[in-house]
Amino acid sequence: MVSLRCHRSKYIWATLGVLALLWLYIFPVYRIPSDKEMVEEVLRQGQTWSRNQTAVELYRKLLTDCCNPKRMFAVTKENSPLGKVLWYDGEFYHYHTVTNETYPIFVQDTPLQLPLKRCSVVGNGGVLKHSGCGNEIDRADFIMRCNLPPLSKDYTDDVGTKTHLVSANPSIIEKSFQNLLWSRKSFVESMKAYGSSYIYIPAFSMKPGTDPSLRAYHALADSSSNQTVLFANPDFLKNVGIFWKNHGVHGKRLSTGLFLVSLALGLCEEVTAYGFWPFSVGLDERPVSHHYYDNILPSSRFHAMPEEFLQLWHLHKSGTLRMRVGSCAKERMELKREK
Ligand SMILES: *[C@@H]1O[C@H](CO)[C@@H](O)[C@H](O)[C@H]1NC(C)=O
Ligand SMILES: *[C@@H]1O[C@H](CO)[C@@H](O)[C@H](O)[C@H]1NC(C)=O
Ligand SMILES: *[C@@H]1O[C@H](CO)[C@@H](O)[C@H](O)[C@H]1NC(C)=O
Repeated sequence: MVSLRCHRSKYIWATLGVLALLWLYIFPVYRIPSDKEMVEEVLRQGQTWSRNQTAVELYRKLLTDCCNPKRMFAVTKENSPLGKVLWYDGEFYHYHTVTNETYPIFVQDTPLQLPLKRCSVVGNGGVLKHSGCGNEIDRADFIMRCNLPPLSKDYTDDVGTKTHLVSANPSIIEKSFQNLLWSRKSFVESMKAYGSSYIYIPAFSMKPGTDPSLRAYHALADSSSNQTVLFANPDFLKNVGIFWKNHGVHGKRLSTGLFLVSLALGLCEEVTAYGFWPFSVGLDERPVSHHYYDNILPSSRFHAMPEEFLQLWHLHKSGTLRMRVGSCAKERMELKREK
């Protein structure tokens, strides 16, 4: 009897131990550096940066092994034949079966000319304001942007004008274009800012996003637009999410920016990231707005932005990619300081 009780209490302790570990896995106790510490760290690192080809190749291999971006980043006729079940990566127990309505609108195979050489991935952070990075961004061979950002004249000095791939979240189609249930004209018009680029839509991440995404496809297909809609492959998004979870990013969902950086690391020879700075002060210790075009904060902690930034900063320091967080026009900055 005594020994039985003893065993039982051991069992209870073991269970509690496992639960505690599980808790720590889901809600880890770590400390994210403060805005000020991050500014100091970036200033300490300075502008010196050099590419580490070993690290670039290592990361490309890691991403190829987990997520196969070349073949899998978009839904294609090759990877998603008729009848294929696409599980939504942002929901439990919802799936889309590829039918003869959806299959014909998928591209045949990855349309990109691979490998891509120099890529700019442009986040929408307020740190881009007055950065003068536009020219440098536009000089890349392939330019990716997040969530249909504004590219009007006021911004081009800082963010550039060219786009080769732009992501379009269905929630933006809902908010800015009434889900395309009414007029499609303003949508098609506003898409002209992105030239003849790929529009990358996560149509199969959340169930309510599918119909607006398909309408966006048809709106562009029915116009004389040159743009090619690519639907983000939910298997790819899921695997990239797991990859970063294993690297210590614990948000509910990755930000679009980190998805695009992951894609770029898998597809491009050289990656430079702009506009990724989730802190509220800049390197000059002045306040930074949330986006370069507005200061509307996200409603919840849906994304773990500072954690994502730390990972990217890690990659910057190892020479895997280059992060641009200050001004690109360094000389201009110095002149201003002298005044
Ligand atoms: C380059 O990256 C590899 C792999 O991450 C690392 O082992 C090596 O120390 C790095 N070299 C330099 C000079 O940073
Ligand atoms: C789709 O498949 C169904 C059943 O197989 C068929 O009745 C229908 O005509 C098909 N539609 C088109 C557009 O091919
Ligand atoms: C489509 O692309 C071609 C060449 O890139 C360009 O000349 C033309 O103006 C574009 N048409 C539209 C409607 O954007």
